[in-house]
Amino acid sequence: MTGEIILEARDLARHYEVTRGFLKGKATVKALDGVSFTLARGRSLAVVGESGCGKSTLARLVTMIERPTRGHLAINGHDIATAHKSDVAALRDQVQIVFQDPYGSLNPRRKVGAILAEPLVVNRSMSGGERRDLARQMITKVGLRPEHLNRYPHMFSGGQRQRIAVARALMLNPAIVVADEPVSALDISVQAQVLNLLDDLQTEFDLAYLFISHDLSVVRHIADEVMVMYLGRPVEQGPAKTIFAGARHPYTRALMASTPRVDPKKRAERVPLKGELPSPLSPPKACAFHTRCPLATDICKTDTPPLRDVAGRLVACHHAEKTG
Ligand SMILES: Nc1ncnc2c1ncn2[C@@H]1O[C@H](COP(=O)(O)OP(=O)(O)OP(=O)(O)O)[C@@H](O)[C@H]1O
Ligand code: SF4
Ligand SMILES: [Mg+2]
Repeated sequence: MTGEIILEARDLARHYEVTRGFLKGKATVKALDGVSFTLARGRSLAVVGESGCGKSTLARLVTMIERPTRGHLAINGHDIATAHKSDVAALRDQVQIVFQDPYGSLNPRRKVGAILAEPLVVNRSMSGGERRDLARQMITKVGLRPEHLNRYPHMFSGGQRQRIAVARALMLNPAIVVADEPVSALDISVQAQVLNLLDDLQTEFDLAYLFISHDLSVVRHIADEVMVMYLGRPVEQGPAKTIFAGARHPYTRALMASTPRVDPKKRAERVPLKGELPSPLSPPKACAFHTRCPLATDICKTDTPPLRDVAGRLVACHHAEKTG
């Protein structure tokens, strides 16, 4: 049923120990450091931010490829940390992923039919005939044809391969699809087609999307909720309509200003993103954005801004009232 919470994260974190090289010793990268959200069935949460902000790390936690360092993650009401072993496989089936790279994500030695049937071989007791029937149905759902099942991935364009990857993700009838930059490698014209397809499939199968992109304009039409991240932490999150109508965090505003395809009339005054992204090994203290922020004052360098409610969304900024 649409509306029911299908995915919930509370204070979710993933840290990595890394060796900084000879004599420098070990350091911790806080790839994800305290993310909370809920996602309802049939809805989309867009996760946005520059390279290295922790988007794919979040994807790996939600798809259970990795375990969190801290925090709570529940799929369909089941906490993955405490779920029975026998339930974990079923929870995994509920979450499927589509990756950015349409060239690397499909096995080049297998025909599309075998690629689509593969999740069923592993996870379902079905006859070969039943698997082929389902693959035939799914390939047409993504706008390709049954005869395409007999071809190899290299015989398709990037956009078609992404359709195949989407079909594969849907074979187990998941409730949640994590799409990690699903159109970033595609030409602009093809991006729109794949986004439209994802939109149609969401309605047809009541899918919840965790939609990851570095590009705000890509998520604009698909997102119900938006979470903007900077160096592993959310800086602004809330309803997409509210945020696109007027972002309050200086980082979100800078992202919008540097996104050419966001309607210029709705674009915040141009405050382009200045300076380099700091090293995630030693992020700036207090507000991590202060080294690049046009509104930074002394308090930004000494006090971490809490994520708080401002004008209908959450913002982690001491001066969020000034950007209204
Ligand atoms: N296995 C790992 N070991 C050490 N550091 C890691 C590991 N995985 C990710 N990181 C670091 O964690 C941070 C977040 O990485 P992540 O891949 O989640 O970013 P991202 O937002 O997906 O970036 P991109 O847009 O480039 O895909 C980066 O600084 C990255 O170098
Ligand atoms: S807290 Fe300060 S430095 Fe951080 S985003 Fe807000 S104004 Fe900028
Ligand atoms: Mg990534």
